[in-house]
Amino acid sequence: MAKKLWSGRFQKETDALTDDFNSSISFDARLYQQDIKGSIAHAKMLGKQKVIPQEDADLIVESLKQILSDIQDNKIEFSEQMEDIHMNIESILIDRIGDVGKKLHTGRSRNDQVATDMHLYVKDICLLIINDIKELISTLLDLAAKHTETIVPGYTHLQRAQPITFAHQLMAYVEMLKRDIKRFRQVCEMADSLPLGAGALATTTYPLDRYFVAKELNFSSVYLNSLDAVSDRDFCIDFLEAVSITMMHLSRFSEEIVLWCSSEFHFITLDDAFSTGSSIMPQKKNPDIAELVRGKTGRTYGDLISLLSTMKGLPLAYNKDMQEDKEPVFDAFDTIEICLKTFNKMIATITVNKDAMYDAAAHGFANATDAADWLVKHGIPFRDAHGIVGQLVYYCIQNGKSLDKLSLEEYQKIDPIFDNTIYEAIDLHNCVSQRNIVGGPAKATVERAIAINKGLLTKL
Ligand code: ARG
Repeated sequence: MAKKLWSGRFQKETDALTDDFNSSISFDARLYQQDIKGSIAHAKMLGKQKVIPQEDADLIVESLKQILSDIQDNKIEFSEQMEDIHMNIESILIDRIGDVGKKLHTGRSRNDQVATDMHLYVKDICLLIINDIKELISTLLDLAAKHTETIVPGYTHLQRAQPITFAHQLMAYVEMLKRDIKRFRQVCEMADSLPLGAGALATTTYPLDRYFVAKELNFSSVYLNSLDAVSDRDFCIDFLEAVSITMMHLSRFSEEIVLWCSSEFHFITLDDAFSTGSSIMPQKKNPDIAELVRGKTGRTYGDLISLLSTMKGLPLAYNKDMQEDKEPVFDAFDTIEICLKTFNKMIATITVNKDAMYDAAAHGFANATDAADWLVKHGIPFRDAHGIVGQLVYYCIQNGKSLDKLSLEEYQKIDPIFDNTIYEAIDLHNCVSQRNIVGGPAKATVERAIAINKGLLTKL
């Protein structure tokens, strides 16, 4: 069995259970690229600073590159005894190039090494998530462009409130997703400082050039305090928060999908390829994808709370508790990635039932505010107008009618001020098209928003 790299002061082998419990290779193996990248930069710097001979640095770099490609070709099996990805790679290096390989860890600790790997990893996955979000935005923009005249009720308290268009509803999610992208960019900034060089906790006596390493690894700054460098996991928490908020948006959207494809709403029909059946009820077609996205949102909140709880009582600097940062970050990434990709395809393939949307808007007094606004435009103070239309609505409910089906005599019985132009004012298309100030649902306004966002997409 290969000896542990830190076994010098130990007189006994670790118990198998200790290895099992202590080791993180089963989950941190996925950091191999970041780990090798960080080691290459460190080795180059050691050579440049003459901490180790240049030819040793060159050999280490060459061998690390070979190890990377061997891992990618599935030629390497990691070992649990070697604990984590850092020591696995270092011991493979030593197996391959002997004593020269033993020089790589000069002036470095696993504490600043793992922190560096996590910084690199979080920056990488933020970019992947941003791309997925952009794809979803682009799907929503395409769908919205087709529905700038598709009338649907807008809701408050899940009660029909005012007519809007389906495009307007979709574009609300575009705005949320744009903020999500901003948030992931901010996470990248939070992770954009290099911990390497902090050593175990107090830097090192070697003349390391931390700015050189930062440049090699594309960091725009270095941590100014070594204790903070090795014990900061704020950027992981920021990442989990950004994931949680994006998932919360997807979850709200999912809830709407679940409602919209119910027989009660029937606003949309999901594509067969993105829904599932029941093992007992032959008629069922269930929105499982939307429900799972909604369900998995809770799981990402769990990841966030898990790491916040891990960190809350830790004294400076590194503590092994911090190895528990990885699984929540990995889990949150895996979860949001598959959610974004699947959700995107589900949305791209929905059928929109325009008639059902229009019917819902036509039968829920969604135009009552417009009737009140008509009165205001004819000199009635808004509070009184509200009361008059309230009476009209009550009359309609008593008589099983909608506002557009009342005769002018019926209007005038409630208030003689009404004339024929009321019908135009409460026409659903007019209700929408008159709401044309910025932020509103009018066709032209939403079309402008779509165009602005299409233009932004490349810059986000
Ligand atoms: N696997 C460890 C982690 O993820 C690496 C750092 C270990 N450092 C140490 N001093 N034991 O945190």
